[in-house]
Amino acid sequence: MYFIANWKMFGDTNSLNSLNKVIKFIKLFKKKRLIKIIYCPPNTLIDLVSKKLKNTNIEVGSQNCHEKDDYGPYTGSVNCSMLKNVGAKYVIIGHSEVRQSGESNELINKKIQTAIKSGLKVIFCIGETIQQKRKKLTKKVLSKQIKLGLNKIKNKKTIIIAYEPVWSIGTGIIPKPLDLLKTINFLKKKLKNNKILYGGSVNSKNINQLKLIYNLDGYLIGGASQDPKKFIDIIKKTYN
Ligand code: PGA
Repeated sequence: MYFIANWKMFGDTNSLNSLNKVIKFIKLFKKKRLIKIIYCPPNTLIDLVSKKLKNTNIEVGSQNCHEKDDYGPYTGSVNCSMLKNVGAKYVIIGHSEVRQSGESNELINKKIQTAIKSGLKVIFCIGETIQQKRKKLTKKVLSKQIKLGLNKIKNKKTIIIAYEPVWSIGTGIIPKPLDLLKTINFLKKKLKNNKILYGGSVNSKNINQLKLIYNLDGYLIGGASQDPKKFIDIIKKTYN
Protein backbone atom coordinates (compact mmCIF):
# COMPACT_ATOMS: atom_id res chain seq x y z
CA MET A 1 0.00 0.00 0.00
CA TYR A 2 1.13 3.51 -0.82
CA PHE A 3 0.82 6.33 1.69
CA ILE A 4 1.75 9.51 -0.10
CA ALA A 5 2.01 12.70 1.92
CA ASN A 6 1.22 15.84 -0.07
CA TRP A 7 2.26 18.79 2.06
CA LYS A 8 1.04 21.32 -0.53
CA MET A 9 2.23 24.88 0.31
CA PHE A 10 2.83 24.09 3.95
CA GLY A 11 6.02 23.48 5.89
CA ASP A 12 9.33 25.11 6.63
CA THR A 13 12.61 23.93 8.12
CA ASN A 14 10.88 23.45 11.50
CA SER A 15 8.59 20.83 9.95
CA LEU A 16 11.51 18.42 9.59
CA ASN A 17 11.17 17.48 13.25
CA SER A 18 7.73 16.07 12.56
CA LEU A 19 9.39 13.34 10.49
CA ASN A 20 11.11 11.88 13.55
CA LYS A 21 7.91 10.27 14.80
CA VAL A 22 7.18 8.68 11.45
CA ILE A 23 10.73 7.36 11.07
CA LYS A 24 10.55 5.83 14.53
CA PHE A 25 7.12 4.34 13.88
CA ILE A 26 8.17 2.73 10.61
CA LYS A 27 11.24 1.11 12.16
CA LEU A 28 9.03 -0.79 14.58
CA PHE A 29 6.01 -1.35 12.34
CA LYS A 30 5.47 -5.06 11.70
CA LYS A 31 3.87 -4.54 8.30
CA LYS A 32 6.57 -2.20 7.04
CA ARG A 33 7.35 -4.46 4.10
CA LEU A 34 3.82 -4.00 2.81
CA ILE A 35 3.92 -0.24 2.68
CA LYS A 36 5.61 2.51 0.73
CA ILE A 37 5.64 5.99 2.19
CA ILE A 38 6.46 8.94 -0.04
CA TYR A 39 6.76 12.49 1.25
CA CYS A 40 6.05 15.29 -1.21
CA PRO A 41 7.03 18.48 0.63
CA PRO A 42 7.35 21.88 -1.07
CA ASN A 43 10.41 22.05 -3.35
CA THR A 44 12.19 24.24 -0.79
CA LEU A 45 12.37 21.23 1.56
CA ILE A 46 13.10 18.34 -0.81
CA ASP A 47 16.84 18.45 -0.21
CA LEU A 48 16.51 18.55 3.58
CA VAL A 49 13.74 15.95 3.72
CA SER A 50 15.72 13.53 1.51
CA LYS A 51 18.75 13.91 3.74
CA LYS A 52 16.63 13.34 6.81
CA LEU A 53 15.11 10.18 5.31
CA LYS A 54 18.39 8.87 3.92
CA ASN A 55 18.68 5.70 5.96
CA THR A 56 14.99 4.84 5.91
CA ASN A 57 12.83 3.28 3.23
CA ILE A 58 10.68 6.42 3.03
CA GLU A 59 11.05 8.20 -0.30
CA VAL A 60 10.63 11.76 -1.48
CA GLY A 61 8.78 13.42 -4.34
CA SER A 62 7.85 16.83 -5.68
CA GLN A 63 4.36 18.26 -6.17
CA ASN A 64 4.90 19.48 -9.73
CA CYS A 65 7.55 19.94 -12.42
CA HIS A 66 8.18 21.94 -15.57
CA GLU A 67 7.41 20.24 -18.88
CA LYS A 68 10.93 20.78 -20.21
CA ASP A 69 13.85 18.88 -18.81
CA ASP A 70 16.60 21.13 -20.11
CA TYR A 71 17.61 24.33 -18.40
CA GLY A 72 16.19 27.58 -19.70
CA PRO A 73 14.77 31.00 -19.08
CA TYR A 74 11.60 29.89 -17.27
CA THR A 75 11.36 32.15 -14.24
CA GLY A 76 9.96 30.43 -11.20
CA SER A 77 10.13 26.93 -12.67
CA VAL A 78 11.95 23.79 -11.63
CA ASN A 79 12.71 20.89 -13.98
CA CYS A 80 12.85 17.16 -13.25
CA SER A 81 16.66 16.98 -13.27
CA MET A 82 16.78 19.67 -10.62
CA LEU A 83 14.28 17.74 -8.53
CA LYS A 84 16.26 14.52 -8.89
CA ASN A 85 19.43 16.36 -8.02
CA VAL A 86 18.05 17.16 -4.54
CA GLY A 87 16.70 13.68 -3.92
CA ALA A 88 13.22 13.47 -5.45
CA LYS A 89 12.28 10.05 -6.84
CA TYR A 90 8.64 10.87 -7.60
CA VAL A 91 6.60 13.76 -8.92
CA ILE A 92 2.90 14.50 -8.56
CA ILE A 93 1.47 15.63 -11.92
CA GLY A 94 -2.05 16.85 -12.72
CA HIS A 95 -3.16 17.72 -9.21
CA SER A 96 -6.47 19.58 -9.36
CA GLU A 97 -4.99 22.56 -7.53
CA VAL A 98 -2.50 22.91 -10.38
CA ARG A 99 -5.11 22.15 -13.06
CA GLN A 100 -7.23 24.96 -11.59
CA SER A 101 -4.51 27.45 -12.43
CA GLY A 102 -4.77 26.54 -16.10
CA GLU A 103 -2.82 23.31 -16.54
CA SER A 104 -4.33 21.44 -19.50
CA ASN A 105 -4.39 17.70 -20.20
CA GLU A 106 -1.90 18.35 -23.00
CA LEU A 107 0.53 20.11 -20.69
CA ILE A 108 0.11 17.32 -18.16
CA ASN A 109 0.98 14.83 -20.91
CA LYS A 110 4.20 16.73 -21.69
CA LYS A 111 5.12 16.82 -18.01
CA ILE A 112 4.53 13.07 -17.65
CA GLN A 113 6.68 12.33 -20.71
CA THR A 114 9.48 14.51 -19.39
CA ALA A 115 9.29 13.07 -15.88
CA ILE A 116 9.49 9.49 -17.17
CA LYS A 117 12.37 10.34 -19.48
CA SER A 118 14.27 11.91 -16.61
CA GLY A 119 13.72 8.87 -14.40
CA LEU A 120 11.19 10.26 -11.94
CA LYS A 121 8.20 8.09 -11.08
CA VAL A 122 4.90 9.80 -11.78
CA ILE A 123 1.91 10.13 -9.46
CA PHE A 124 -0.79 11.14 -11.93
CA CYS A 125 -3.88 12.79 -10.41
CA ILE A 126 -7.30 12.64 -12.03
CA GLY A 127 -10.75 13.50 -10.76
CA GLU A 128 -14.09 15.10 -11.55
CA THR A 129 -15.59 18.34 -10.25
CA ILE A 130 -18.86 18.42 -8.33
CA GLN A 131 -20.71 19.76 -11.40
CA GLN A 132 -19.37 16.90 -13.51
CA LYS A 133 -20.36 14.40 -10.84
CA ARG A 134 -23.90 15.80 -10.65
CA LYS A 135 -24.21 15.45 -14.41
CA LYS A 136 -23.00 11.84 -14.06
CA LEU A 137 -19.94 12.59 -16.16
CA THR A 138 -17.36 11.05 -13.81
CA LYS A 139 -16.36 8.13 -16.06
CA LYS A 140 -16.28 10.33 -19.13
CA VAL A 141 -14.09 12.95 -17.44
CA LEU A 142 -11.69 10.34 -16.05
CA SER A 143 -11.44 8.60 -19.43
CA LYS A 144 -10.57 11.88 -21.13
CA GLN A 145 -8.00 12.83 -18.51
CA ILE A 146 -6.38 9.40 -18.87
CA LYS A 147 -6.51 9.35 -22.67
CA LEU A 148 -4.97 12.80 -23.10
CA GLY A 149 -2.70 12.66 -20.07
CA LEU A 150 -1.17 9.32 -21.06
CA ASN A 151 -1.19 9.92 -24.82
CA LYS A 152 1.83 8.33 -26.55
CA ILE A 153 3.33 7.20 -23.28
CA LYS A 154 4.93 3.78 -23.64
CA ASN A 155 6.09 3.00 -20.16
CA LYS A 156 2.70 3.38 -18.49
CA LYS A 157 3.18 0.63 -15.91
CA THR A 158 5.25 2.65 -13.51
CA ILE A 159 2.70 5.47 -13.31
CA ILE A 160 0.77 5.60 -10.05
CA ILE A 161 -2.77 6.87 -10.55
CA ALA A 162 -4.40 8.95 -7.82
CA TYR A 163 -8.16 9.27 -8.14
CA GLU A 164 -8.97 12.52 -6.37
CA PRO A 165 -12.50 13.86 -6.79
CA VAL A 166 -12.07 17.64 -6.79
CA TRP A 167 -15.09 18.06 -4.48
CA SER A 168 -13.46 15.81 -1.94
CA ILE A 169 -10.12 17.60 -1.63
CA GLY A 170 -9.88 19.56 1.59
CA THR A 171 -13.63 19.42 2.22
CA GLY A 172 -13.89 16.54 4.70
CA ILE A 173 -16.27 14.80 2.30
CA ILE A 174 -15.39 11.42 0.80
CA PRO A 175 -17.31 9.50 -1.88
CA LYS A 176 -20.00 7.03 -0.88
CA PRO A 177 -18.40 3.57 -0.54
CA LEU A 178 -20.32 2.05 -3.44
CA ASP A 179 -19.57 4.99 -5.74
CA LEU A 180 -15.89 4.81 -4.90
CA LEU A 181 -15.80 1.05 -5.38
CA LYS A 182 -17.40 1.42 -8.81
CA THR A 183 -14.99 4.17 -9.86
CA ILE A 184 -11.94 2.23 -8.70
CA ASN A 185 -13.21 -0.89 -10.50
CA PHE A 186 -13.66 1.19 -13.63
CA LEU A 187 -10.11 2.55 -13.36
CA LYS A 188 -8.67 -0.90 -12.60
CA LYS A 189 -10.24 -2.28 -15.75
CA LYS A 190 -8.93 0.59 -17.81
CA LEU A 191 -5.43 0.60 -16.34
CA LYS A 192 -4.78 -3.05 -15.56
CA ASN A 193 -1.11 -2.66 -14.69
CA ASN A 194 -1.22 0.49 -12.62
CA LYS A 195 -1.50 1.08 -8.92
CA ILE A 196 -4.64 3.08 -8.16
CA LEU A 197 -4.81 5.31 -5.10
CA TYR A 198 -7.57 7.39 -3.61
CA GLY A 199 -7.07 10.98 -2.44
CA GLY A 200 -9.38 13.59 -0.95
CA SER A 201 -9.94 14.27 2.77
CA VAL A 202 -8.40 10.98 3.89
CA ASN A 203 -8.15 11.13 7.68
CA SER A 204 -7.72 8.88 10.70
CA LYS A 205 -11.51 8.50 11.07
CA ASN A 206 -12.71 7.83 7.54
CA ILE A 207 -9.81 5.44 6.87
CA ASN A 208 -11.89 2.72 8.53
CA GLN A 209 -14.45 3.17 5.78
CA LEU A 210 -11.97 3.72 2.94
CA LYS A 211 -9.97 0.59 3.72
CA LEU A 212 -13.03 -1.51 2.89
CA ILE A 213 -12.53 -0.60 -0.77
CA TYR A 214 -10.56 -3.78 -1.31
CA ASN A 215 -8.97 -2.94 -4.65
CA LEU A 216 -7.29 0.33 -3.65
CA ASP A 217 -3.49 0.38 -3.64
CA GLY A 218 -3.13 3.26 -1.21
CA TYR A 219 -3.86 6.88 -0.44
CA LEU A 220 -2.72 10.37 -1.35
CA ILE A 221 -3.04 12.35 1.84
CA GLY A 222 -3.02 16.14 2.04
CA GLY A 223 -4.04 17.92 5.25
CA ALA A 224 -3.69 14.90 7.54
CA SER A 225 -0.16 14.18 6.35
CA GLN A 226 1.22 17.33 7.93
CA ASP A 227 0.53 15.97 11.39
CA PRO A 228 2.72 12.90 12.05
CA LYS A 229 0.29 11.50 14.61
CA LYS A 230 -2.63 11.62 12.20
CA PHE A 231 -0.50 10.22 9.37
CA ILE A 232 0.71 7.32 11.53
CA ASP A 233 -2.85 6.68 12.69
CA ILE A 234 -4.02 6.36 9.10
CA ILE A 235 -1.32 3.77 8.41
CA LYS A 236 -2.01 1.82 11.60
CA LYS A 237 -5.76 1.75 11.06
CA THR A 238 -5.37 0.57 7.49
CA TYR A 239 -4.04 -2.70 8.93
CA ASN A 240 -6.23 -3.01 12.01
P1 PGA B 1 -6.64 16.52 1.39
O1 PGA B 1 -5.78 16.70 0.06
O2 PGA B 1 -6.27 15.21 1.99
O3 PGA B 1 -6.24 17.69 2.25
O4 PGA B 1 -8.07 16.57 0.98
C1 PGA B 1 -5.50 15.63 -0.79
C2 PGA B 1 -4.74 16.12 -1.98
O5 PGA B 1 -4.98 17.24 -2.42
O6 PGA B 1 -3.89 15.40 -2.51
